[in-house]
Amino acid sequence: MASEGVRRDSRGKVVMAVNGLDMTEWQRLLETRREVVTMEHAQNDPTVHYALAWNTEPGFLVRLPGLKVIFSLGAGVDHLLFDETVPDVPIIRVVDENLAAHMADYVCWRVLDHHRKGRLYRQQQAAGIWRQHLQAVAGAVTVGIMGMGELGRTAAERLLGLGYRVAGWSRTGRKLAGVDCHAGADGLGAFLAMTDILVVLLPHTLETEGIIDYALLSRLRRDGPLGGPVLINAGRGKLQKEADILRALDDGTLHEASLDVFEQEPLDPASPLWQHERVFITPHVAAESDPAHLVPVMLDQMDNHEAGRPLANVVDRKLGY
Ligand code: NDP
Ligand code: OXD
Repeated sequence: MASEGVRRDSRGKVVMAVNGLDMTEWQRLLETRREVVTMEHAQNDPTVHYALAWNTEPGFLVRLPGLKVIFSLGAGVDHLLFDETVPDVPIIRVVDENLAAHMADYVCWRVLDHHRKGRLYRQQQAAGIWRQHLQAVAGAVTVGIMGMGELGRTAAERLLGLGYRVAGWSRTGRKLAGVDCHAGADGLGAFLAMTDILVVLLPHTLETEGIIDYALLSRLRRDGPLGGPVLINAGRGKLQKEADILRALDDGTLHEASLDVFEQEPLDPASPLWQHERVFITPHVAAESDPAHLVPVMLDQMDNHEAGRPLANVVDRKLGY
């Protein structure tokens, strides 16, 4: 809660260094406890201590001489860490149960749709075809999750509840009950070889950029119950090589894909992914940051910082997430 007896305008101000999003509600909630200044007025103002950042113009944050903490509007911080001009102050990322629950909804929706032949039955309906196909039970399908962090672990728990077999892959091999966990380069082969549906929830870092390529897709389980492996990417577009995904779809290496994120966003209207009959596209909406949940936590973090208490969910700049 706001520190008792401290005037709203005597503490560090906030700037929303955000492009491409409607920030009206964020601003309304921030202004209940802090003064918010526009990007234009924030520059060179030493009393602006906090920045909310998303798609921030490179070079902007360095023009805030009093900047103490950067709050990423998302769980991913690649938008900040790939900008070399971002000042060396703590970067806080979003860690939120509500966000993780939304991502788990998206993952379960896409896994169930691929598993239960959603595309095929939509095609049949459009053509007025009544034809039944054999269905594998969930327990015969292995969903492999790349990235067993806040989002990957919540999705894994939900998938286990639906009866799927679940495998996980991460840098350190983070464990979760009921999940077959694998670590790093040594564990990748075994993880991919057992995976029917690959769910990508990795951050975009120097190590993970372009990891979803043709060679990786070729290592997924080929004799599973779905007619071929399926890719679901809701992590970041820069993890995937879209030309490789198209090649894999077209030569049968990959059966179907659901993509929420793209190498360039918005996805180019000329991209063949739009028209591909075995690709399901959503415009980076798998899980959205909700100001009602996040702003009170950000405001508490600002109060904590000013009271000399530690910040939570600080990004490790060396690891990149
Ligand atoms: P976390 O930081 O909690 O988890 C990241 C996971 O990735 C960890 O398990 C980590 O391993 C693993 N990892 C990182 N680098 C490597 C590597 N080189 N090799 C193997 N594993 C690696 O992140 P979140 O779960 O909170 O979020 C994940 C990503 O989801 C975000 O970075 C963002 O890009 C994306 N996202 C997308 C949204 C959307 O709407 N599409 C919404 C929100 C987030 P370890 O556990 O060993 O550290
Ligand atoms: C995020 C996102 O990183 O929305 O939270 O993509």
